[in-house]
Amino acid sequence: MNSIQILIVDYGSQYTLVIGRTLRELGVRSVILSPKKADSWLKNNLPKAVILSGSNWSVHSVHNEGAPGFPKLLDLTGKKYSIFGICYGMQLLAHKLGGKVNRPLAHREYGPAEATLNLKHPLFSGVNKKTEVWASHGDTVTKLPKGFISIATSGGISAMADISNRVLGVQFHPEVVDTKEGKKMFQNFLNISNCKKDWDPVNLIHEIQKEVLNIVNGGKNKQKVILGVSGGVDSTTLAAILAPVLKERLVCLAIDTGGLRANELLELKANTKSALGKNKVKNFKIIKAGEEFIKNIRVTIDGEKKRTKFREIYQKIFEEQIKKYKAGFIAQGTLATDLIESGKIGESAMIKTHHNVGLFWKVDDLHPFRNLFKYEVRELAQTLNLPSAIYERNPFPGPGLYLRVVGTPVSKENIELVREADKTVADILKKYKLTKYISQLIVALLGVNSVGVKGDERVYGHSLAVRAVQTADFMTAKGYYFPEKVVNEITNALTKHKDIVRVFFDMTPKPPATTEFE
Ligand code: XMP
Repeated sequence: MNSIQILIVDYGSQYTLVIGRTLRELGVRSVILSPKKADSWLKNNLPKAVILSGSNWSVHSVHNEGAPGFPKLLDLTGKKYSIFGICYGMQLLAHKLGGKVNRPLAHREYGPAEATLNLKHPLFSGVNKKTEVWASHGDTVTKLPKGFISIATSGGISAMADISNRVLGVQFHPEVVDTKEGKKMFQNFLNISNCKKDWDPVNLIHEIQKEVLNIVNGGKNKQKVILGVSGGVDSTTLAAILAPVLKERLVCLAIDTGGLRANELLELKANTKSALGKNKVKNFKIIKAGEEFIKNIRVTIDGEKKRTKFREIYQKIFEEQIKKYKAGFIAQGTLATDLIESGKIGESAMIKTHHNVGLFWKVDDLHPFRNLFKYEVRELAQTLNLPSAIYERNPFPGPGLYLRVVGTPVSKENIELVREADKTVADILKKYKLTKYISQLIVALLGVNSVGVKGDERVYGHSLAVRAVQTADFMTAKGYYFPEKVVNEITNALTKHKDIVRVFFDMTPKPPATTEFE
């Protein structure tokens, strides 16, 4: 494969990996590194472009003590490679090159804004003169460095360029889908940087197989590799990629946590079997552990504590299996999104403890999808000719229905109630052929009891929340608005349960909400 053309310096924004994903959508691979790591990378590599990302909220201002700066080796002339500062990246460019960065706004500019293009510039080639952008910043560039011009405004300076047109900055986030013409801007930047297409799913599948074989064939013995499968697109696709090269060395294990949806086990079996195909994978087992999970999880209603407990048991079970099979490795379908939101990539903030991320195993762990997004794994699944039931499948979190009993202790009865409710809503959506418009459905039992009336009797019962989101990458999402008759049918069906008196529909976008309730 060709050398990486783009270096993304990660200052910790939640959206940094989305920059990488957008570039891949445009056919170009990139590497994302912290400023320190970028420095060592630049010693041996010459990219065509460097992108400086936004920051996370703990850093946020170039004026903060200890605010991260440029990699020392970064060439800022635009001669070796072009440079594109995004949000904090632009502020850093302005600050270090002699401009001014202030906090003149009474509040953060957050959410949609309109940028007006001041002049024709190759970065905005084909972009409307007034264009909708997504902003999320408190600091703002108030004076440009010498030799720079303002090329777009939105209240203040929204984009800047130097004379060579190779050192550029935007105050907004072109990588977020809400920046309507963001992708066009990235394509323009790729053109400015003379980047050629180099992303190819077939190649990637071979690369992953090669990478895993290199690692697992490193020792003397051909040890087994345990792969945690869930029936979801990530682990199933990984099984399909690893089966032909690992064959009988691959051990696929699934855990029945007691928090699975209705029909989940059947789908899991069918999906894993079709992924393994005719390859000689002898070992595929489902470990029943519902009792153990429920016993330990029901003690808390705190979402983070629940997640921590869940992953402790999850890891314990896998460690037992590693021992049993004398395996040398554990592989998982962890995605870039999982790593970012659990704070395990670059400098980004921790949002949630993911059940399978950041665990320290007694054997080596492999995360071959660590740089990929869900939509990319779906592309790999299609490339592998897996059934559409796999690549079109909605995601479902490892801790499952345990995350869908919110603000009230988890019990077998509560889990059963959300399981039934989830099936009821899913069936209605199927009936109205709405499933394809929804990226993920969440039905949660809320710890909010309230008064209702059933059969002329007062009932003091539970509430359910129904949430459907639309998203490309789960980094941002918007609530899906059901048609009125579907809302009515869902409400009627769910309140048939004797203990349910109220149904709430949650359309809050991410951010500020997350997809799951906890
Ligand atoms: P949030 O709620 O953070 O979720 O917006 C983004 C996506 O990740 C899924 N998710 C998980 N998946 N283990 C998983 O395998 C987890 O611990 C976990 N937590 C969230 C979530 O369902 C959504 O698709």
